[in-house]
Amino acid sequence: MNELVVKGNPYLPSLARIVRVRDETPDTRTFRLELEGRKPRGLNFTPGQFVEVSVFGYGEAPFSISSSPLEEDFIEVTVRRVGNVTRALFRLRDGSFVGVRGPFGRGWPVEEMSGENVLMIGGGIGIAPLRPLVEYIIANRESFGDVVLLYGARTPKDIVYKEELEKWREYIDVRITVDVGDETWRGRTGVVTVLLDDVELDPRKTYSVQCGPPIMIYFVTRRLVEMGFPDERILFSLERLMKCGMGFCGHCMIGGKFVCKDGPVFSYDEVKGLLEPAVTR
Ligand SMILES: Cc1cc2nc3c(=O)[nH]c(=O)nc-3n(C[C@H](O)[C@H](O)[C@H](O)COP(=O)(O)OP(=O)(O)OC[C@H]3O[C@@H](n4cnc5c(N)ncnc54)[C@H](O)[C@@H]3O)c2cc1C
Ligand code: FES
Repeated sequence: MNELVVKGNPYLPSLARIVRVRDETPDTRTFRLELEGRKPRGLNFTPGQFVEVSVFGYGEAPFSISSSPLEEDFIEVTVRRVGNVTRALFRLRDGSFVGVRGPFGRGWPVEEMSGENVLMIGGGIGIAPLRPLVEYIIANRESFGDVVLLYGARTPKDIVYKEELEKWREYIDVRITVDVGDETWRGRTGVVTVLLDDVELDPRKTYSVQCGPPIMIYFVTRRLVEMGFPDERILFSLERLMKCGMGFCGHCMIGGKFVCKDGPVFSYDEVKGLLEPAVTR
């Protein structure tokens, strides 16, 4: 776990150059960032951690690091255009500069998960914090048991990481569904929970990790409990409105916990009763 060490002014971002922009879907792009004046130009992070990215003149927003933790020379963030900061970010091209603070938060407990099966469930852009975990697992494939990734997108056009999903199939079991198909789609349709029907992993030897919209987390968690997953083996990454990202401002608090610092990754037993009814049993 990479604990935050505050040196100097913790609000001061590092300068980072955008060196590649890749369109994922009509409203989602992956930005590759190199930190200026540093060698290596990436960050040492745990899968599931996030950074605060500032677009100068517009503001700052938290994004999960979506690149492999083994990449030393850059980090990537995969961003859906929703509002002020993300719209401004989408106007930037290769060579532009942004600010980066982090990495922040508690990521997936990769060491604890070692030796176990892993069931990953991603919805929409929620696959972003799963991508570094998949890359970590593939790089250490012999340390994990059966690994299954279930991914749900709204339509075939909304599938993020199309190239990677095909590549990952060589190493892990990848299953995809879309809410609504089109004339090209030959795969499954329906929300991501339909894919859980065919999962045959022993819940006592499997960690489930999920990231997606709250409604997905609610239904997936209910289903995992029915399937016999112990609460401490149901892990999810939560989103809350954030400012500082470091446990100072209190913007992201649920109950007594800071989502930015104690999370964003929590197990169900840690947050049961602290969340809105939509995510509790
Ligand atoms: C830990 C963490 C990791 C995240 N990782 C990613 C990621 O990898 N990719 C990505 O695209 N987004 C991610 N997000 C969400 C992202 O931070 C917001 O989409 C972003 O802050 C929106 O900024 P904006 O100025 O463009 O939108 P705004 O103008 O601030 O808001 C536009 C709309 O989005 C809503 N909104 C803003 N922030 C959030 C939020 N955190 N949760 C839910 N709704 C929100 C607002 O209520 C509003 O309706 C993450 C958020 C957190 C807390
Ligand atoms: S965002 Fe400031 S305390 Fe979490």
